[in-house]
Parts: sequence; structure tokens; C-alpha cells
Amino acid sequence: MGDEWRPELYDSKLGFVSAHGQHVIELLQPKAGEFVLDVGCGTGDLTARIRESGAHVVGIDKSEAMIARARSKYPDLRFIVADAECPLPEAVAEAFDAVFSNAALHWMKAADQVLAEIWQCLRPGGRFVGEFGGRGNIRTVEQAIEDVLLAEYGIDAAAFHPWSFPSLGEYAARLEAAGFQVDMTVYFKRPTALPDGDAGMDYWLESFAKPFVHAVGEKESGRLFRLVKERCRPSLYSGDKWTLDYARLRFAAHKTLRE
Ligand code: BEZ
Repeated sequence: MGDEWRPELYDSKLGFVSAHGQHVIELLQPKAGEFVLDVGCGTGDLTARIRESGAHVVGIDKSEAMIARARSKYPDLRFIVADAECPLPEAVAEAFDAVFSNAALHWMKAADQVLAEIWQCLRPGGRFVGEFGGRGNIRTVEQAIEDVLLAEYGIDAAAFHPWSFPSLGEYAARLEAAGFQVDMTVYFKRPTALPDGDAGMDYWLESFAKPFVHAVGEKESGRLFRLVKERCRPSLYSGDKWTLDYARLRFAAHKTLRE
């Protein structure tokens, strides 16, 4: 999405995103003295967690607003505004022992370009470890958005989809084609409870579903999200909380030399 991120809202209402990322750091096993790149670092909480291991870490994110917030929270860490779907700055080429990414790769639809950039900035043998939305992730929410746009506005949502949720097989094949050896990959359903009771879904839509507002215009944003929320309610709201149908792809790979 364009820079529609609201970092304060993200930090105050969507802290569960970083909390879940702790497992991915455990898979990464960062070591003191290593150089690690955090791709799609958002407001920097996991970048800071990686630093605690003694690794030197750089966080990159496409959103200037998120990077500004990360810098203000963690002034001693290095954060750069950079879009991993475009060529990364020369300075990072072959510089890193590991690349890490949590809950960000599904926002980057040009997956092969991203993998080429990550391959380029790793030293030979360097690790690429991450987690993001896999096939079927938040399908109930996606379907509700598609249904509301079509039924209420006569709009096909296809052109506005900001996410890509590949299957395990598809992503593993992309990793291999990009020159990685896949060491571990797993697909799992992870129903994800939102905090803040009924309002939790409002915060989620406001933070993550903004790209669909372009389909209807800002003035309709409130109505669009209200209708989507009510469509999701029978399946996703119970016991005074929203639980979204997240599905994750988690993987560990390392850079090999391309043939
Ligand atoms: C996710 O983490 O899976 C996700 C978050 C926001 C929008 C889409 C997916």
C-alpha cells in the first residue's frame, strides 16, 4: 500500500504481530557479531529484539512513517526507508549473514524480485528466515471485502488486492529458483485473536485493509468497513472477541551459488 500506515495505531492496537514474530527470531538464532537485515521491519520491535542477541541489525521498510516511528523508539538502531521490491542500496550487497522477515512478505507481490534482492544482499551461505501469510490466510475477511465491494458498489476487488498468500509448494519453488536451498518450511493455520473486543476488527481493518478504500473513495471508508465487519461477524466473532483465520508460511533457507 502507499504510505497509509498509522504507526501509533499499529503499535497500540496490533502489538500481537510482533509478539508472534518471536518464534521466527528463535528460528533465526541470531548470533553476536552477525550482520542481519530485517525486511519489512515496521516500527522496529523485532529489529530491537534481534539486536539483543548482539547481532548488528539494519531494519528496512517501504513506509517512511513506520521508519520514522522505529527511529524515534530505537535511536541507536539503523533503519532505512527501502522497498524490497526494488533494487536495494548498493551498500547492502553481499553484506549480510542473515535476512529476517516477519509478517511483511505478503505485502510484496513481486515475490521473485524480492527474492533476487535478498539473495544479492546475503553472503554465500547466508540465511533467509521468515514467516508471512500463506494460502487461505484471512480468507473469510478477503471474501467479505470482495462480496461487499461487488454487492454494494458493483466493484471487482481484484485490482485492489494488496496481498499475495502463496502455497508452501509455490513459495518453496520460488526460493529454489532464486538460488536458495530450503532447509525448513511449514504451513499452519494460526487462528489469531484480536485484542480490544468488538473494536478489535475496526482497528484491524483501519490498519490493514486501507488499499480497498481506493475502490470506493475515502468518504465511503466507514461504511465499507462496517459492512465488511458485519459480514465477518458470524464466522469470526465469538466470546466477545474477534479471531481471524490466519494461515502462516514459515521457512528457513540459505543462499547457494546460482548455476
Ligand atoms: C498477516 O499478517 O497475515 C496479514 C496482516 C494484515 C493483512 C493481511 C495479512
